Amino acid sequence: MELTLDEAISEAHSLIANTNSLVRVVLSGRRRNMQTRAVRIDIRPVQLKERIVLQLMENDGRQMTTSNIDPAEFDGVALLSSGYSNILVEHVSGSMSIRVTKKDQPLIHREMGEHKQELNHDKIKSRLLDQGDPFLKEVGIADQNGKVKPSRQDKYRQVEEFLRLLAPALESAIDAGHIKTPTDQQPLSIVDLGCGHAYLTFAAHQYLRKLGLPIHVVGIDVREESRIRNQAIASNLGVNSSIEFRAEEISKTTLNGADVVIALHACDTATDDAIAWAINNEAKLLLIAPCCHHDLQVQMQTIPEPWQLLARHGLMKERLGDLITDALRVQILKLSGYRTEVIEFVGDEHTPRNLMIRAIRTGATPDSLEVARYHEMLALWNVIPALEKRINLHKGVEQ
Ligand SMILES: C[S@@+](CC[C@H](N)C(=O)[O-])C[C@H]1O[C@@H](n2cnc3c(N)ncnc32)[C@H](O)[C@@H]1O
Repeated sequence: MELTLDEAISEAHSLIANTNSLVRVVLSGRRRNMQTRAVRIDIRPVQLKERIVLQLMENDGRQMTTSNIDPAEFDGVALLSSGYSNILVEHVSGSMSIRVTKKDQPLIHREMGEHKQELNHDKIKSRLLDQGDPFLKEVGIADQNGKVKPSRQDKYRQVEEFLRLLAPALESAIDAGHIKTPTDQQPLSIVDLGCGHAYLTFAAHQYLRKLGLPIHVVGIDVREESRIRNQAIASNLGVNSSIEFRAEEISKTTLNGADVVIALHACDTATDDAIAWAINNEAKLLLIAPCCHHDLQVQMQTIPEPWQLLARHGLMKERLGDLITDALRVQILKLSGYRTEVIEFVGDEHTPRNLMIRAIRTGATPDSLEVARYHEMLALWNVIPALEKRINLHKGVEQ
């Protein structure tokens, strides 16, 4: 039986009201023509002395405000009806998610599965992905009891950090109409280029599916053994219909296009292959964390003055080369119609590479000053970035 939005909200509210079994609630996204008081609200029950209260953590996009509410005074129906387009309620034996369409219809997704209640009042950072998510066991981050292994805490932190960067960018891209609202017929397509062991590929898949978003995820890595391993994990999780893996070179992939492109620590110019593929296929949202940068380092033979000051020291020259490479990548994205940001991304324990380029395709035509700036930089350093060789840079650029 199909529920109306009010009926779905009422069911979600009953799950929230049962604080003995409630694990957490996440409200995010915005319904058409509605404003919300926070970008995202996380709610969970916590034990305060003898009683249980609901802890609300409201994120306004810049900072988090925490408050505790007596469950008897919590007007859940009003909050759930106040304009959020994604409602996730997790309880000890499963979850319910509601995604509200542009026509205010509820798309409801229910899942069975155990979740653990954490009533500890200490400020536990609210997690986007439950420690007990079966994928964490399958990829070896959590043990058989669904607890993150002490030796894999860094990887778990990286997974969480990545979801925190992906989720709001995706929600605002859908809200702003840069990405079409996904449907079962046209799911959101995501490709992870250079996916390796696919920790982050599976994390994105599990998290977005839990939110009830129709998605199709493809992980690409040149190594056949990665494909075999990752596909086996997908089979064990029973998610073969919404995630697949291919053993291909990024630059030669047979994939036709994607809404979202992820490339995290793909080696050297594999990052340029990934950005070029995204630009050439007009991907809408990019999350790129570059890795080692040899391409420009090799080309930086003659150092313009007064930059000798930095470049005479090997370590500083290397960092300067990394920065120039990434600054030029960002500029090329800008000239190709993307709005870009550079943000910090937690590297895992073995990598100091903690920069992430987040870009959204707006199709804006860059002005001539930005074009000139790019060419001046190339002339000054006498370099041609690998990325420029892989795309048609001046297509649609104002000269
Ligand atoms: C450092 S690992 C990162 C894996 C994963 N993205 C992560 O962050 O956990 C880089 C991966 O990129 C793959 N790779 C490097 N160059 C590639 C290329 N040109 N085409 C496809 N995969 C590539 C490697 O096989 C490796 O698995």
